Amino acid sequence: MAIREIRLSKDEILRKVAREVEEVDDRIKELLQDMLETMHKYNGVGLAGPQVGILKRVIVIDLYDGNKPLLLVNPKIIKSKGEQEVDEGCLSFPNEYAKVIRPKEVVVEALNEEGKKVKIVGKDLLAQALSHEIDHLNGVLFVDNMIPGTLEYVTPEKE
Ligand code: NI
Repeated sequence: MAIREIRLSKDEILRKVAREVEEVDDRIKELLQDMLETMHKYNGVGLAGPQVGILKRVIVIDLYDGNKPLLLVNPKIIKSKGEQEVDEGCLSFPNEYAKVIRPKEVVVEALNEEGKKVKIVGKDLLAQALSHEIDHLNGVLFVDNMIPGTLEYVTPEKE
């Protein structure tokens, strides 16, 4: 396993649409493990392929709630219900947070890290994380969805 470099906000790769994975082979499994390790290193709850420079439809999520992390390939929202206003950040935007409207509940179909078909019902924080990460696969960033005027820099940094 290895830590991968996280691409930051202005990186054009974050704006590209990621490609479907055809087979969950050893390279994809290694990528997923690296992404998990990278996300944990930076205390993130989610990370998507394009954020480590890989334009493939892969995401990892860990809510640190005692459940196993999710390692998902080709995730797709097949149902979405309700809405919630949430504070959100992104590992590609260190120290930036904004309010975003996300679905309250989503149903996602994907392949897991073993290539098996799974269906996940995500509510609240999990619905938020799944929506955020799947957006990344389509080149959509949380700042695109934020409620105008809510962007905050939590750690002041001079540029
Ligand atoms: Ni993000």
